[in-house]
Amino acid sequence: SIRRLTAPDIAARKGQTPIVSLTAYTAPMAKILDEHVDVLLVGDSLGMVIYGMDNTLAVTLEMMIHHAAAVMRGSKHAMVVVDMPFGTYEESKEAAFRNAARLMAESGCAAVKIEGGREMAETVAFLVERGIPVMGHVGLMPQQVQNMGGFKAQGRNDEQALAIIEDAKTIADAGAFSVVVEGVMEQVARAVTEAISVPTIGIGASPACDGQVLVTDDVLGLYSEFTPKFVKRYAELGEAVDQAVEQYAADVKARQFPGAEHCFGLKAAE
Ligand code: KIV
Ligand code: NA
Repeated sequence: SIRRLTAPDIAARKGQTPIVSLTAYTAPMAKILDEHVDVLLVGDSLGMVIYGMDNTLAVTLEMMIHHAAAVMRGSKHAMVVVDMPFGTYEESKEAAFRNAARLMAESGCAAVKIEGGREMAETVAFLVERGIPVMGHVGLMPQQVQNMGGFKAQGRNDEQALAIIEDAKTIADAGAFSVVVEGVMEQVARAVTEAISVPTIGIGASPACDGQVLVTDDVLGLYSEFTPKFVKRYAELGEAVDQAVEQYAADVKARQFPGAEHCFGLKAAE
C-alpha cells in the first residue's frame, strides 16, 4: 500500500540516497511527478511560471491554498510541502502559525517552507513545536529580490558565505526537517551540508547537497521567460505545444478537423 512520505522520512534521508524533488502546481502534473519524486514542492514560483508575474511578491495565501489542494488531490506518495508567500509569516511567529495552519488545514499538505535565516529561527521553532513541520530556505531567497536588486547568486565572498552557513545551522537547530539551499557556490553548499544534521535540498547549489529540486516548468521547457544557469532542460514541451497547436489551427482552417471519426452522425472510413 502507498503511504505518503513524511517529514521524519525526509529528515532520515541525511547521508542516504539523494532526495528527489520538483515543483508542482496542478493536479495532473502532480500525478505524473508523484511516481518519481520524494517531495512535491508547491513553490511560490507559481507566481512567475503560472501567473506571469515578474517575481513572487504578489503571490497570496489563497493562491497557495488552491494550488496545494490540487497537488494533494493529484498525488498519493510524495510529501507535499507548500511555500508560505511573502507577507504571511515575517511579521510575527503568531501570524506565521495562523497562516501556516490555514495552509495545512485547507489543503491537507504536510509541511510549509519559509525563506530566511537567523531572523526566522524563533518562528521556525514556534511552528515546529506546535505541529507544523518546516522546511527552511537559505542562500538566494527570491522574496528578497528587491533587497538584492535582482536574482543573483549568493555567498560570493567569505563574509556572505559564513552568514549563509550560520543561517542554515540556526534554522536546522530551530527544528527544520530539511533546508533548501539556493543559488550558492559549491563550497558553501558543501559546508552547509556538512554543518547541519538534516538534509539540504539544493537548487543551483551543486551535487554536494543531500537532494535536488528544480522548477518543473523550467525542466520541461514550459517556462522560457528566463532560464537560470542551474536549470537542465530535460524536454522542450513548449516547442511541442507550439507545433501541436500550429497543426490544429491549420486543420481547422482547412476543414481537416474534425474528421468523420470525431463526428456524431458521420461514418468513419474503414
Ligand atoms: O518557489 C519555488 O519553486 C522554490 C523552489 C525552487 C525551491 O522555492
Ligand atoms: Na519559493
